[in-house]
Amino acid sequence: MTASPPKLFVKSYGCQMNVYDAERMADALAPQGYVAAGSAEDADLIILNTCHIREKAAEKVYSELGRIRKMKQETGRSPKVAVAGCVAQAEGAEILKRAPVVDLVVGPQSYHRLPELLREAAEGRRPVDTEFAVEDKFDRLAAPAPKAIRGRGVTAFVTVQEGCDKFCTFCVVPYTRGAESSRPVSQIVAETERLVAAGVREVTLLGQNVDAYHGEGPDGRSWSLARLMYELAEIEGLARLRYTTSHPRDMDDELIAAHRDLAKLMPYLHLPVQSGSDRVLAAMNRKHTADEYLRLIGRIRAARLDLALSGDFIVGFPGETDADFEATLAIAREAGYASAFTFKYSPRPGTPAADMDGQVPEPVKDERLRRLQALIAAQQAAFARSLVGRRIDVLLDRPGRHPGQLAGRSPYLQPVQIVAPGAAIGDVVSAVVTDVGANSLFAALRTAAERPDDMSMTPEATA
Ligand code: 5AD
Ligand code: SF4
Repeated sequence: MTASPPKLFVKSYGCQMNVYDAERMADALAPQGYVAAGSAEDADLIILNTCHIREKAAEKVYSELGRIRKMKQETGRSPKVAVAGCVAQAEGAEILKRAPVVDLVVGPQSYHRLPELLREAAEGRRPVDTEFAVEDKFDRLAAPAPKAIRGRGVTAFVTVQEGCDKFCTFCVVPYTRGAESSRPVSQIVAETERLVAAGVREVTLLGQNVDAYHGEGPDGRSWSLARLMYELAEIEGLARLRYTTSHPRDMDDELIAAHRDLAKLMPYLHLPVQSGSDRVLAAMNRKHTADEYLRLIGRIRAARLDLALSGDFIVGFPGETDADFEATLAIAREAGYASAFTFKYSPRPGTPAADMDGQVPEPVKDERLRRLQALIAAQQAAFARSLVGRRIDVLLDRPGRHPGQLAGRSPYLQPVQIVAPGAAIGDVVSAVVTDVGANSLFAALRTAAERPDDMSMTPEATA
């Protein structure tokens, strides 16, 4: 009998940093022979890659652990179970107490140690590794081997920055992910080149506070995010660049100019404002006013006319009055969002806002969330409709819903369904938006009959 390779199942919650980290975990375990499992049921190792940003996220992890315990009982299988990510970082050994099914706990700084931790777990110990790195943590983010990246599709994330020093009073990230640090330019360029060589066409630069990037350049000096992107845009075969997520305070002139100059930089910006009330913004320690945010958006839009804006909002922050919430609706109306994430404030233990007076009752939060979501949904639908009849570039990234159809993404991150004979996954095609569905656009390839002076939405190069 030949032993089959061990199977790994990673379930990720939360932000895109976790999606990226899941790939790093698979890379760390590949030398041990681990291959991807189709589901938790047939895995030998289950990793829950957790998020701690809101209460419900952590609770979901404990319910998932309950399901895994039941699955183990019912099937008689005994996969190892690991908890990783920010809940692991924040709760550490507490998880072992609360969930006996867990074999090991590993924080985001220690994924390179997974093989070692698994050996300890195999010996019946229940290791917990939530150390913050003393040395440069990025040195230990092994660059993925081409074998590991093949088959990952045409879009990829590349971490360029981790951690945050902003200390917004509601947020656990500065505590779970630690201080801001940036990866050296040469590592990022090398990883992006490897990804492009393996077929990736679009790269999203990731960081908790990505516009605060200040990595060491090849000249030994500190490079900004803008400078890094000018460099990456030179990579032949890379069609699109994106970055997420940004803080308004770090959007400087150079970065705004990059939106004007770099055709490969997609006209889509995730720039959270959280609230439209200056009083709440001050209590959140955001260090900017509503007006400053709006003026900033104006400057970025002047640089890139077709910029689509996305953001994050929190409703029901402690002390938020009806008038404060109206100011949030007003800023959303004025800024105009192509999409946005909306959250009810959730007190995170250890953060200053958790101890503030004036916690808002749940039903009030529910009502505010509903109203804000309705506004954002209307803006999103109106934006999609405004594209009908216009030409956009679509990066084809997967088969479509129906035979003959392909699916891809617009420059504004909307899913697009398209019939594109002769085109292949990985191509960027120029197409006209014909209709709008519930969650996606429909588009058709340009025909010869079309006017040659058809208004172009993006200067992006076509494949
Ligand atoms: N409660 C609600 N939303 C939160 N976010 C961060 N912390 C909290 C919290 N305690 C939201 C913010 C942030 C996004 C990633 O999550 O809007 O931008
Ligand atoms: Fe959290 Fe604020 Fe840092 Fe964003 S900028 S990660 S919300 S502390």
